Amino acid sequence: MAGEADSKAGAMEAFYRELESKSMGALWRRRYPEGGSGESAAAYPPMAWRWRDIEPFAYRALEMVKPGRGEGERRAVTLHNPYTGGSGATHTLTAALQCVNPGDISPSHRHVAAAIRFGIRGEGTVTIVNGEPVPIRAGDFLITPSLSWHGHISKGTEPMMWMDSLDAPLVGMLRVGMRQEPYPDEIEPATKAIADSHSRFGVGHLRPVWHKAFSPVSPLAYFPWEQSEQALNEMAKVGSSLFDDIAFEYTNPLTGGHVMPTMGCWIQMIRPGTHTKAHRHSSSQVYHVFRGRGATIVDGVRLQWEQGDFFALAPYCWHEFVNESSEEAVLFSTTDTAVLEPLNLYFEDAYEENGGHQKVTGVYEDKLPALEARAGGRPGS
Ligand SMILES: [Fe+2]
Ligand SMILES: [Fe+2]
Repeated sequence: MAGEADSKAGAMEAFYRELESKSMGALWRRRYPEGGSGESAAAYPPMAWRWRDIEPFAYRALEMVKPGRGEGERRAVTLHNPYTGGSGATHTLTAALQCVNPGDISPSHRHVAAAIRFGIRGEGTVTIVNGEPVPIRAGDFLITPSLSWHGHISKGTEPMMWMDSLDAPLVGMLRVGMRQEPYPDEIEPATKAIADSHSRFGVGHLRPVWHKAFSPVSPLAYFPWEQSEQALNEMAKVGSSLFDDIAFEYTNPLTGGHVMPTMGCWIQMIRPGTHTKAHRHSSSQVYHVFRGRGATIVDGVRLQWEQGDFFALAPYCWHEFVNESSEEAVLFSTTDTAVLEPLNLYFEDAYEENGGHQKVTGVYEDKLPALEARAGGRPGS
């Protein structure tokens, strides 16, 4: 009997080796990770980048680097999530802090990856996007869709900083990137009025009657802070989300959908005394703490954050928000929900146990994972 079993096993091994030699495989040999409902299946652990670490690098870069044509067209400190194995903040989205000095010109170029910017500090810079000069002040949000020309000019009196986030990891994974293309001149000339798109589409429920083209890319490029702040304050009087407190997604005013087909962007306020319920979803999200302080409990780990910090949440992590301070916290974030929804791949669950709150089992530690835990998802999986 044993000899019969050995010879069968030997024949199977030979079969597998022959398959592999022809670049084929046996689906029945594949093992899937086990797990049931209620058990977290987060793709990778949370990751935080602290303002106290980022800011000194930003000021050193302001002294040491000058943006210009060619190598280093942008002076941006990029935030890498070691668990994703790439240079993104999540597996689909990048995050970076771009810094400009007074008088800087960051040359115009375009690329397949789409970008957004969210002003963090300072003013006096405009980004020219397809001929439209768009301001970036603290709290302002603007979009640079795929293949749109964009360059930055700083006329401010002090250094300025903003968050960049791109869909570059997704574009790279799909192999649809191409070489960055420089604009023929150093900077694309402004051919439109300042914040032209805001004059046309800035009141979301009013559409110019002659504008009939409905595109998945928002025709509105500029979303000033005053409007976002007003929306947060008005909503706080009447309603909130169980999972996100006061949270808005910036929308394409013509469709009500995401601002771009590959990226969604949110502005969110966690009010003092708030403790939201936990949920999880198939999208990933990268957050910037614009104001205030608080915490996010991620798979039982309490991740404390304060103004200037960035943090990234992976698909399927349970998460809930806490603000125990006496001031409002404001978070800006980018998400890949826009990619998942049209593919019917957006899934969301509410945490049902314990009144919707996770048990806190640990505190997030600001240390990088061991090398063996990187690039492969969760340690041990
Ligand atoms: Fe760019
Ligand atoms: Fe969420």
